[in-house]
Amino acid sequence: MSDLAMDDLMFRPGLMKGQRILITGGGTGLGKVMAEACVMLGAEVYIWGRRGSVIEATAKELTDGQGHVAGGRCVGMACDIRVPEAIHDAMDEVWAGGALTGLVNNAAGNFISRTEDLSPKGFDAIANIVFRGSFFVTLDAGKRWLAEGKHASVVSILTTWVWHGGPFTVPSAMSKAGLNVMTQSLAVEWGGRGIRLNAIAPGPFPTEGAWARLNPSSAVGGGEKADPTIPLGRNGEMRELANLAVYLLDPGSAYVNGQTIAIDGGSHLQGGGGFSRLAAWGDAEWEAARNSIKASNEKDRAQRTV
Ligand code: HXC
Ligand code: NAP
Repeated sequence: MSDLAMDDLMFRPGLMKGQRILITGGGTGLGKVMAEACVMLGAEVYIWGRRGSVIEATAKELTDGQGHVAGGRCVGMACDIRVPEAIHDAMDEVWAGGALTGLVNNAAGNFISRTEDLSPKGFDAIANIVFRGSFFVTLDAGKRWLAEGKHASVVSILTTWVWHGGPFTVPSAMSKAGLNVMTQSLAVEWGGRGIRLNAIAPGPFPTEGAWARLNPSSAVGGGEKADPTIPLGRNGEMRELANLAVYLLDPGSAYVNGQTIAIDGGSHLQGGGGFSRLAAWGDAEWEAARNSIKASNEKDRAQRTV
């Protein structure tokens, strides 16, 4: 089922015709809605994820749903961005049809945990996707763009924790902060050669993937309700995120470089990380949250093909 209608987008039909966009983690959640927007606007979109069945289903849904848009189509590829060789092979396949014009570093892993409960493997489970994986994808595409003298736009999906820290989500906050600095550094290093890098720092956008790991409601009494401290009093809407991503990917924003733009209803300006309230939890709540997250991870793992 399609999540977006053309009226949800701020842009003229056909805006992205001729563009070739790669979105990591594009099979679900925010990645999927960004992919959908780009396809609706006429781009050829590649989506990567570990679960081949999920990726294939999304690619089919987006292509079938937008068959009437000239040029607009979505290609799904199973690729684990923790593995540089897998990135390189998948990128070869993408490049066989021509150079990408844009990349969205969206794939991520995350869960809430007291930091003292983390094992080295727990840290790596997040950092290897977000910090290392996103860098390796950017590097692989970047080398090709530089060698061919092509222009491109890279958009990384971060969090507002890059500015104020992320208690109880420290591996994610550290990894996203690293990507924030990657964005600023490469904006300068590669900007003069036609490659610009920007980032989006979303506030809460309820997605199945994020909510299962960050708001395990059945375990701890959370839910879909917006945090009352968000100045706008509500969570983000998927179309709002999609519009910002399209803006940054498109040459219409060509003079924007090295920026990280928050889309959070102003909430990061309220002070305090979103999980500060979890300081009140005891062992029972943390155990219940962990069990709920584990059950959700096991369900996902059973669907993976890579
Ligand atoms: C403590 C945990 C844990 C938890 C896992 N681990 N869950 N530790 N608390 N809740 C530890 C395990 O014990 C293990 O260490 C290690 O992490 C690896 O666990 P696996 O289950 O084997 O990991 P893996 O199968 O690689 O799965 C990766 C994952 C999983 C990150 C844990 O959640 C995943 O695949 N996520 C992808 C989708 C996702 O996370 N989406 C949410 C994005 S939202 P030991 O030492 O015991 O072996 C987001 C920001 C939202 O990023 C911001 C909202 C405002
Ligand atoms: P999501 O649906 O769980 O999206 C994460 C995606 O990443 C999944 O499709 C997952 O697919 C993919 N992925 C994970 N590990 C991968 C790997 N090793 N290789 C390739 N793909 C991988 O969650 P979401 O909420 O849409 O999150 C999307 C992005 O937004 C993330 O960067 C997240 O940090 C950011 N964000 C979200 C929110 C929010 O409120 N939702 C807020 C701030 C930031 P597979 O499991 O099939 O690999």
